[in-house]
Amino acid sequence: MFIVNHLRCEYRKNPIGLDISSPRISWHLESDARNVVQEAYQIQLSLVPEMNRIEWDSGRQHSNRSIHVELTGWKPVPRTRYYYRVRAWDGAGNESEWSEPAFFETGLMDAEDRWQADWITAGAALKDDPSCPRLRRVFELQKAVVRATIYATALGLYELHLNGARVGDHYFTPGWTSYDKRLQYQVYDVTSMLVAGQNVIGAVLGDGWYGGHLGWDGRKGLFGDDCALLLELHIRYEDGSEDRILSGKDWMASASAIAMSDIYMGETYDARLESDWLDASRASWSPAAILDHAKDIIVAQENVPVTAMEQLKPIALLTTPEGDRVLDMGQNMVGWMRFSVQGDPGQTVELLHAEILDHAGNFYTENLRSAKQQVQYTLKGGGVETYEPHFTFQGFRYVKLIGFSEPIQIDDFTGVVLHSNMERTGEFACSSPLVNQLHHNILWGQKGNFLDVPTDCPQRDERLGWTGDAQMFIRTASYLMNTAPFFTKWLRDLRADQHEDGGIPFFVPDANVSGSDSAHSSAAWGDAAVICPWTLYEMYGDTRLLAEQYDSMKQWIEYIRSQGDNPYLWNTGFHFGDWLGLDSKPGSYVGATDRDYVATAFYAYSVSLTRKAASVLGYDQDAVYFDQLHAQIIQAFRNEFVTPAGRISVPTQTAHVLALHFDLLEPEHRKRAGDQLVKLVEEAGNHLTTGFVGTPYLNPVLSAAGHRDLAYTLLFQKDYPSWLFQVTQGATTVWEHWDGMREDGSLWSRDMNSFNHYAYGAIGEWLYRDVAGIRPDEHRPGFGMVHIEPQPGPGLDWVKAKVDTMYGTVSSAWHRQDNGEMIVEVHIPANVSGTVLLPLAAKAAVKEQGQPLEEVTAIRAFRAEGTDTRVELGSGSYTFTYVLPKADEHPELEAEKVQSS
Ligand code: BGC
Repeated sequence: MFIVNHLRCEYRKNPIGLDISSPRISWHLESDARNVVQEAYQIQLSLVPEMNRIEWDSGRQHSNRSIHVELTGWKPVPRTRYYYRVRAWDGAGNESEWSEPAFFETGLMDAEDRWQADWITAGAALKDDPSCPRLRRVFELQKAVVRATIYATALGLYELHLNGARVGDHYFTPGWTSYDKRLQYQVYDVTSMLVAGQNVIGAVLGDGWYGGHLGWDGRKGLFGDDCALLLELHIRYEDGSEDRILSGKDWMASASAIAMSDIYMGETYDARLESDWLDASRASWSPAAILDHAKDIIVAQENVPVTAMEQLKPIALLTTPEGDRVLDMGQNMVGWMRFSVQGDPGQTVELLHAEILDHAGNFYTENLRSAKQQVQYTLKGGGVETYEPHFTFQGFRYVKLIGFSEPIQIDDFTGVVLHSNMERTGEFACSSPLVNQLHHNILWGQKGNFLDVPTDCPQRDERLGWTGDAQMFIRTASYLMNTAPFFTKWLRDLRADQHEDGGIPFFVPDANVSGSDSAHSSAAWGDAAVICPWTLYEMYGDTRLLAEQYDSMKQWIEYIRSQGDNPYLWNTGFHFGDWLGLDSKPGSYVGATDRDYVATAFYAYSVSLTRKAASVLGYDQDAVYFDQLHAQIIQAFRNEFVTPAGRISVPTQTAHVLALHFDLLEPEHRKRAGDQLVKLVEEAGNHLTTGFVGTPYLNPVLSAAGHRDLAYTLLFQKDYPSWLFQVTQGATTVWEHWDGMREDGSLWSRDMNSFNHYAYGAIGEWLYRDVAGIRPDEHRPGFGMVHIEPQPGPGLDWVKAKVDTMYGTVSSAWHRQDNGEMIVEVHIPANVSGTVLLPLAAKAAVKEQGQPLEEVTAIRAFRAEGTDTRVELGSGSYTFTYVLPKADEHPELEAEKVQSS
């Protein structure tokens, strides 16, 4: 077997609406042989799925490249669907069949006739009507249609209808971008929705992020007040002619049954005001108005769309001590409730959404601050009515029901989980149910906070693209799901919102929620400009994105360099510091680690990554410049914060974590710092005191510094503060505070207490990268080379993990047997090289499927590395076994024994 499958174009399966002149395609090779390397490939493009007329042929290309192969040497035509297929040859003379064809469809691109439609709003007659406006147009079709495509965008949010049916399955379109500078449009194939004769096209508009509430100051309409639609329906007839239905002054507008819809506040709907799209007589329609608004800011959809990803049923219907009827969804989720109800016309039901019940078991919404999360529905009467909201989402586990007639049936309610439709890539399971629950909570933190932009939290009056939080979580997120299109879009907004002097807003899109010239550029937050593109480069091999972001990275560095009067230290300006660190002064959110220390450490780190980016992109002079700058920052850092004998002068866990993780110390001082970190953790009763900045790196640093057991101890702590404390408290997502809810049910605070905040979920990376040991290699990014370095530790008997990489599935599993044997199973996909690090110096002690290593032909080499053996291999599945010492599960001791015997 040697096959090519899993074709993707710009990461997506059959994307529609690409405005990229040389799209990149990627594929997987599958084979049951070991050591499979692609020797050559061939790609063909066609306008027909049968592929019998070839538009473009790459010919046989001698290359092992199977990800991000750019289609160049051919010019895509706008609004065209291209089918493509791939075949490959391996080094052993095997030739694959052609893959099944896949397709991509270009969008409007730079066509000269692009956007002939006009922006339209509901017009003067509806100026004071607070409901979500509807826009509608009737048109006739006389000829047979072969293809009909809608290109649409909006100021605000839109939902399209064609002949009474909803168009597509995307929600929250056109997505949230820096609306003044960038606005996405979407493309829908609606060929099958058109009918001969009369057709009706329509759209409902909602305020969304554009015109609704944003931020904690209660402000609204931060991007604009007027919701508007821009739409083109392109129809191609059998006879080759074309028609376009364009948004314009021939459209009519009316109020809708959606009386109010707002991201934070919820939605109010009066079903008595419903009227059929097809029957204009039931509503009063007035002419739409033309709006003069920019079109040159419009870009094709970059992110994957938000869709309804899962449905949950309530696990219980409770009556609280205060007498409320409350549904328990069993999971802190993000999306909305769909429900069915029956009753009299004019009867109103209401749903309120909350994350927790308080210590007495009552419905608790104070932590939502001003976000109401309230859905109100007024019945039209006369049968079962089913409803779900349109332009709002809620973060919740509990739903308070008001106005529903008893007996309430649980079956009438469904939780609809909405988020950006990213491919799930990571799976992790182990022998500890609590750790599995932690992994589940991390995953749900991502589901809840990756609704088109990476948000801090999905429930209170915030839900903003906080740069720091995104930077902390991106590595974990990119193990769990394919985040590349998601972050590509967000990084373009970051670049668009970057200040002229290189400063980076606290959150992106920069909604300026306080109305004044908002502050910007905190260390560890602004560094998202560098850390995010670099992480995507490592995880997906995305050189194009790195190149696109490179100037933004450089500008950020330049911004820092120009602060204060010492270009090598960052000791000025406002910083969030080690936000929420537990060593903070009473009443403060900022941990004890000196802010200048944090700022300078991140400065050095960002310069080191930008230097790497410069090398990757071939900017050699820049690389030399950043090399020197890095050396100077390190020098300044040491002068300022490290004694000549190697003591770090800032005595916090976070300070030690950063110095080690960012490699800021003299090599001979690293051990001392590691030991000191251990001491600081021990002094805290084997607990962490780190905040947002230190926590993500704490366990990785302990593992790398040879203190794996302590990392495991921290993982397994069950009392406050620890990851598992919240798990034992019943958390189903990751909390903002280690003691968001205390053991006695009391709460950390009323106003800053999110129960779905992914930042501390950044330990997910350690589970994949250290515990299971699956690591990318920055020199062959995208997992073109994978290093598997499992780190068994006390408390776990087995671990099983996999990551679906650009090349295919990498997996790693280890299992401690009762007989003292350790089994390590790995899988490396075709066209990938790997190494496996096994904790024994004596190679003879390790067997692969019962054979000594030197007899396994697929194994290319093995060598001692410290007390370990590094095995180099090609693709395939491998099972290694070695004997663990009976009384002792510390592999390094065993290795010593083997060496000395
Ligand atoms: C957010 C954080 C964010 C922080 C800035 C909070 O309100 O929820 O996650 O990073 O502000 O320090």
